[in-house]
Amino acid sequence: MTRLQGKVVLITGAAGGLGEAFARAAAREGARLVLTDLDPEGIHAYADSLDAERLILAHDVTSRAAWEETIAATRARFSALHGLVHNAGRGTPFLFSEMSDAQWRAMMAVNLDSVFIGTQVALPLLEESGPASVVNISSVAAMVCTAGMTAYCASKAGVRMLTKSLAVEFALQGLPIRVNSVHPAFTRTRMVEDILAASGDPARAEKRLARAIALKRLGEPREIAGVVIHLLSDESSFTTGAEHVIDGGLTAM
Ligand SMILES: NC(=O)c1ccc[n+]([C@@H]2O[C@H](COP(=O)([O-])OP(=O)(O)OC[C@H]3O[C@@H](n4cnc5c(N)ncnc54)[C@H](O)[C@@H]3O)[C@@H](O)[C@H]2O)c1
Repeated sequence: MTRLQGKVVLITGAAGGLGEAFARAAAREGARLVLTDLDPEGIHAYADSLDAERLILAHDVTSRAAWEETIAATRARFSALHGLVHNAGRGTPFLFSEMSDAQWRAMMAVNLDSVFIGTQVALPLLEESGPASVVNISSVAAMVCTAGMTAYCASKAGVRMLTKSLAVEFALQGLPIRVNSVHPAFTRTRMVEDILAASGDPARAEKRLARAIALKRLGEPREIAGVVIHLLSDESSFTTGAEHVIDGGLTAM
């Protein structure tokens, strides 16, 4: 369990769900961690169970000033950054005809602008620390759509092409930074629990979601974490600009 030994990895949105699963898996693989969230209480709740050196920060990924503080704190504590996982996100459904400008922009800010701002602010430290790896948590919503998820689908599709563009630009500039995207389908986290609860009949809603998946079940966070660890590690040193779909066969049907 040393695939990330010696590496410093920053994970946003780490207070639960996928972010917590990534933090637990990265700790098991020997990484030193910077764990951030808008509300870091959830990180403090499990942090003592991690066998890893760690820095826990309150961090709004939509704010450039907050990114500057987070990266400065990372530099001060660890003097390096080898892995950056853009995981923080929101999946609030909005009916297109009723969506306000503010709701559209808020979705873009947290899901897409955060990847632009965060990668740009982290760039000098990633370059100094290279080989480095940026992992962007997009979604199958970048490839297939669901009614009521216009802004979410557009934001996650933006992350998909931003990933490829950064990967190519960094490679052509000779920067030692790989960039890849991960595209999960419905995985059991608070985001999906909220969607199920909003339906009024969570059990029925889960069955309906599962029907869209070839494996006929939701994913578990640890099933996404394995791919993220691979992308953060030097095992994937020839992988950049690639999209990693983890969807139980949803997009194959
Ligand atoms: N669960 C799924 O089925 C699924 C599928 C595809 C993609 N995703 C993506 O995976 C990522 C993680 O989602 P999850 O399912 O674990 O959901 P989650 O709601 O459990 O976790 C999201 C985290 O992001 C944090 N966050 C929200 N806004 C923030 C901000 N402005 N600044 C910092 N942190 C903020 C939240 O506090 C929360 O802890 C998201 O980007 C989501 O779009 C999830």
